[in-house]
Amino acid sequence: MRDALGEVQSVLVLGGGSDIGRAVCRQLVKGRCDTVILAGRPEDGMDDVAADLRAEGATVELRDWDATDVASHAGVIGDIFDEFGDIDLVYAPAGILGSQEAFDRDPAFAAAAVQINFGGLVSASLVVADRLKAQGHGVLVLMSSVAGLRARKNNFVYGSTKAGLDAFGQGLGDALVGTGVRVMVVRPGFVRTKMTEGMDAAPFSTTPEEVAHLIIDGLTKGMETVWAPPVLKYPFFVFQLLPRAVWRRVSERG
Ligand SMILES: NC(=O)c1ccc[n+]([C@@H]2O[C@H](COP(=O)([O-])OP(=O)(O)OC[C@H]3O[C@@H](n4cnc5c(N)ncnc54)[C@H](OP(=O)(O)O)[C@@H]3O)[C@@H](O)[C@H]2O)c1
Repeated sequence: MRDALGEVQSVLVLGGGSDIGRAVCRQLVKGRCDTVILAGRPEDGMDDVAADLRAEGATVELRDWDATDVASHAGVIGDIFDEFGDIDLVYAPAGILGSQEAFDRDPAFAAAAVQINFGGLVSASLVVADRLKAQGHGVLVLMSSVAGLRARKNNFVYGSTKAGLDAFGQGLGDALVGTGVRVMVVRPGFVRTKMTEGMDAAPFSTTPEEVAHLIIDGLTKGMETVWAPPVLKYPFFVFQLLPRAVWRRVSERG
């Protein structure tokens, strides 16, 4: 249960090996959060994140969860809620970036990315929403991307998964108004993590720590949408208005 000042005391991370997730949890456990449940594929580097958080004094538990195994979601997530009781925050950073070239070469890989970034998170989020509603409070945080706001020809599979997730998060948030449960959609630009390793940084690139700070600030303020960094909302407002032919040229510049 969030404390009298609204600080998170327990968090479930869906995609427990995420670099941004690690930074979010590190900042939470420096505050009032003492219980962290990392859920993800066993090979996803969760042990390392867990060791990091335990060194900060948190109680950390690991559970197997695969975004693509949608048939298991009700059971796996339900069991976590049954075991740990109240969970204040469910943070869902699971996702893959892939490359447009790889998706073009292998359409099945493109479909798998859709299943991880969108289908799997839709399934998990609906289970989470039900459980948060039953406890009467809680926040679900979904990771969209500025790539979802206007598709680029060089990463439109990834962009379309994020467009879907962003729209889903907004709709779910609206459907939950009045239940005590909130959904916050995060729209980062380029963040320097293992996901973007080796890539040239885009303008206004940022760090996991800065994104985590903005997420926690957004939680405190009850925000529905968080841009990371916030300045990105201005160029993307303009980008959404550009004619297609102009956008094709602008988006080529990275
Ligand atoms: N980094 C950026 O520039 C950026 C920008 C905008 C939005 N985002 C979004 O922010 C979120 C977190 O990104 P990040 O930078 O922290 O990336 P990250 O460190 O690569 O974290 C993503 C996590 O998702 C896990 N994952 C992949 N497939 C999964 C599956 N089937 N089931 C469960 N977990 C799975 C990954 O495991 P593996 O590492 O083993 O694959 C990884 O631990 C992602 O949704 C990403 O799309 C990132």
